[in-house]
Amino acid sequence: MAGLTQAASSPSVTYLIRRACARDAAAMSAIDGRVSLTAWSEGQFRAACAESSDLQQHREYALVAEHDEQVQGFVVCQVVFDELSILNVAVSPAKQRQGIARALLNQVLATAPTGVLRCLLDVRESNVAARALYRKMGFDEDGLRRNYYTRPEGREDAVLMSLQVPDRDSKGI
Ligand SMILES: CC(C)(COP(=O)(O)OP(=O)(O)OC[C@H]1O[C@@H](n2cnc3c(N)ncnc32)[C@H](O)[C@@H]1OP(=O)(O)O)[C@@H](O)C(=O)NCCC(=O)NCCS
Repeated sequence: MAGLTQAASSPSVTYLIRRACARDAAAMSAIDGRVSLTAWSEGQFRAACAESSDLQQHREYALVAEHDEQVQGFVVCQVVFDELSILNVAVSPAKQRQGIARALLNQVLATAPTGVLRCLLDVRESNVAARALYRKMGFDEDGLRRNYYTRPEGREDAVLMSLQVPDRDSKGI
């Protein structure tokens, strides 16, 4: 298993949040395929899960939330200098609204490498659930990137969001 592990609770079930490793890529890809309009390939997830114990050296990485050894959600991030970008986050349809995405994002923020000052992401304008999640976590909406995403029937804008990351000593995950 890559990295340390940490338990996170939803109201009813305890999920383990841990660094993703290569064998998680298939499960992550299966979740993404069910919930995303433009799903990533399994290879993209495998690249994000490449094992490294050193976040300072490994700029793209992923965390998963699992219960009974089943991956139920994930977040993929990238660190570039003092910015941490959320590249992808998703939860199995049957496990949504249990606090899994919030727990994953809180863990990403709590364990961001030292020196990270800002967390950035973009989200489809029509994605009510994700925008509500990010706003609840304190992200600000900074602007729009016009026609950024494809849709079956055309294109849609991306909403750009950001959050200041509190200054702290990173413990890593
Ligand atoms: C967006 C997503 C990751 C949220 O995952 P989740 O585990 O269900 O979210 P949480 O349970 O942690 O929700 C935390 C808060 O976000 C908001 N929220 C989450 N889903 C919501 C929904 N469907 N409608 C309205 N608000 C929602 C709520 O404020 C919620 O708090 P509450 O349950 O106490 O009201 C999930 O819906 C998903 O996988 N969507 C498809 C993939 C996707 O859109 N990813 C984001 C790409 S930018």
